[in-house]
Amino acid sequence: MVFLGIDIGTSGTKTLAIDADGKILASDIAEYCCFAPKPLWSEQEPDDWWNATVKTVRNVLKKARLKPNDVKAIGLSGQMHGSVFLDKNGKVIRRAILWNDQRTVEECYEIERLVGGRESLIRLVANPALTGFTAPKILWLRNNEPKHFEKLHKVLLPKDEIRRRLTGEYATEVSDASGMLLLDITRRNWSTELLSALQLDIDLLGCVYESEDVTGKLTPDAAKQLGLTTNCLVVGGAGDCAAGAIGNGIVNEGILSTSIGTSGVMFVYSDEIKIDPLGRVHTFCHAVRGKWHLMGVNLSSGGSLQWFRNALCSELVAEAKKKKIDVYELLTAEAEKTPAGSEGLYFLPYLSGERTPHADPFARGCFVGLTLVHGRGHFVRSIMEGVTYSMRDSLEIFQGLGIPIKQIRASGGGSKSPFWRQIQADVFGQRVVTINSEEGPALGVALLAAVGAGAFKDIQEACKAVIKVVKETKPNSKTKKVYDKSMPVYQNLYRSLKEDFKKL
Ligand code: XUL
Repeated sequence: MVFLGIDIGTSGTKTLAIDADGKILASDIAEYCCFAPKPLWSEQEPDDWWNATVKTVRNVLKKARLKPNDVKAIGLSGQMHGSVFLDKNGKVIRRAILWNDQRTVEECYEIERLVGGRESLIRLVANPALTGFTAPKILWLRNNEPKHFEKLHKVLLPKDEIRRRLTGEYATEVSDASGMLLLDITRRNWSTELLSALQLDIDLLGCVYESEDVTGKLTPDAAKQLGLTTNCLVVGGAGDCAAGAIGNGIVNEGILSTSIGTSGVMFVYSDEIKIDPLGRVHTFCHAVRGKWHLMGVNLSSGGSLQWFRNALCSELVAEAKKKKIDVYELLTAEAEKTPAGSEGLYFLPYLSGERTPHADPFARGCFVGLTLVHGRGHFVRSIMEGVTYSMRDSLEIFQGLGIPIKQIRASGGGSKSPFWRQIQADVFGQRVVTINSEEGPALGVALLAAVGAGAFKDIQEACKAVIKVVKETKPNSKTKKVYDKSMPVYQNLYRSLKEDFKKL
């Protein structure tokens, strides 16, 4: 028995195959591009996701030498919040608008106005209106492209559009649906109250399932394109954050995961629904049946260091290429020579505005505290520290809501660096562990597919069998003290600059 996990990411689609013990058999990635027709807009072609899905599934079958009938179920994961607008014939009306698109500032205000304020909105769907979320995108279409809105029959999330092409079903599941800002997170179904306030028809939306539930089987056409059979099941799957958390084993109380990719995600499991009344962190349904999670998202985490490398380190990039090593190794070696706290240099990582905890599209990135002593190593260290302080912002909110945090699991590209993991342990003041797998969301949904097909009793059992802690980084008490003193300074810098950011 083989299970596939397919993750429709922003830079590409990754497909992974596991066997019934959760062992990884093969994986494959196909990339595609993002379109930015205007500043702060971000769009993709659903056809590109589909082509990448077909290609990677076929490559995985080939690499692992699988026969069509070996694959029993597929789990889908994907970038959250994106909107695929479909007409009544199932044709895509316009390019999908993505999670990192900032065009909907006005529509976020409109939503709050229509429901009688931010507090009422949080009462209905547990979260405030953020520019990246899906509901504001639907209103944007109504306000700005009325001809397209007239044709609108269904709105699907990216991975759910792939589900439609696989099974013919218009369906979603609770974790990804949570990020549409239309789901009653407590009842785990659409909020009819909010839909009626926004004058949106519930028929625009797909059927909501739990993440491990079977949502359909492959159509003959999809089975043919993929090289599989029509017996292959497709389970709900999960939004990439919840899927990544499953792939990290975040399925029990007390465990939090940190992920440093382009964006940074702090993700904590919760047995009960807990909502931040100020809406600084998101409360979403987890991909674990009947459970929830809270999440803080920083828009430029690893992306901040990537920006620094691209904008200011071309000669170091050339040196790394010559030496055939990763340029981040050279940058980290320079940072390691500087003291904790970067001798008073602070970095605010708000290069694309920020989500948690400020929800401020006008926030901007800054270096503050420069003196003649500072060199490139300080810049790199202060970026790593600033990004980690922004993650601690979320940690402090979770702790303030009474969520127990006994173990922190680090993942994502940034956490591969032992130096950055040490900074995390010192800034969080807690042990940071890593696990035996780097596969993230694709593994998470392959495991959900295995549960859906009956290979495991539930997702906890699947994670217990497959995911093991392998490394541990302990906080250094001296460095922790430096960061405990720096954290309030970091937090105050945003408050001091907030009004000026708007004028920039
Ligand atoms: C989560 C979020 C991003 C996207 C992109 O809320 O916006 O992590 O899911 O992967």
